[in-house]
Amino acid sequence: MQRHPVGSPIAAPAAESGPQPQRAAPHRPVILCLEQLSKRYTEAGEERLVLDALDREFYAGEFVCLLGKSGSGKSTLLNLISGIDAPSSGDVTIYTDDTGDGTVEAVTITALSEQARTLFRRRHIGIVFQFFNLIPTLTVLENVTLPLELAGGVSDVRERAAALLGRVGLGDRLQTYPDKLSGGEQQRVAIARALVHDPLLILADEPTGNLDEETGESVLALLLELTRGAGKTLFMATHAPEVAAQADRVLHLVHGKLISDQAWRAQHPDLYGSD
Ligand SMILES: Nc1ncnc2c1ncn2[C@@H]1O[C@H](COP(=O)(O)OP(=O)(O)O)[C@@H](O)[C@H]1O
Ligand SMILES: [Mg+2]
Repeated sequence: MQRHPVGSPIAAPAAESGPQPQRAAPHRPVILCLEQLSKRYTEAGEERLVLDALDREFYAGEFVCLLGKSGSGKSTLLNLISGIDAPSSGDVTIYTDDTGDGTVEAVTITALSEQARTLFRRRHIGIVFQFFNLIPTLTVLENVTLPLELAGGVSDVRERAAALLGRVGLGDRLQTYPDKLSGGEQQRVAIARALVHDPLLILADEPTGNLDEETGESVLALLLELTRGAGKTLFMATHAPEVAAQADRVLHLVHGKLISDQAWRAQHPDLYGSD
């Protein structure tokens, strides 16, 4: 594993296909790096290349929006970044700063065993899913304490979980079971669960995709407040254009490639005008 001093640029930004409408400061350290990342699925003897040799870097504190048609590979990419799934080839490297000695550690999660990836994910990554994925037999509080208990090393598990549930507006529903909650409330629990271990990277896979518009907006505002508002890195797959308008960087997944928003717009003058 490589080590770099905190705060210095770890690597030069990857070349983009066209100018980027980015608000993220370029001196931010790299937190996530994709190198020649590919994923193929074989179905009925036929091979399909879903992600095609992706090369990208993402920066600490950035809010990245990933757009793409259904089936374009958004969930596949998020699952490779989180280590839930393994690529066909290429690497995902995540830079952590919890060594305690002022250095950053580069962890190539694609080089880890499945068990080591799980441990890394529990410690450093928070995930919000479209369908909430709460455990139905656990209370709201237990759903949120579980990741802290699995990650270990925390003494005030209940207090932390309860405090965060208070912040998402569910402080009075700690002993309720998920099936008694509305979709928006379940997603608020899921957001608390994703953040309770103070992850450095939050992945959200269409977090408002299963909510009505108004509920989706309030859940999204909450998610942004608790992630971006706290300087955390947020990588979100979404269909919602109003979300993309708030992102530091918008990327489109098209035919297995990531292209910048500007490059994508330039290719679709019919939708956006050519200027
Ligand atoms: N386990 C799998 N086996 C075969 N094909 C898969 C598998 N998972 C996803 N795919 C295919 O990969 C493509 C991308 O899927 P996905 O990442 O879920 O897209 P998105 O999240 O953008 O809707 C789809 O064509 C899907 O059918
Ligand atoms: Mg998906």
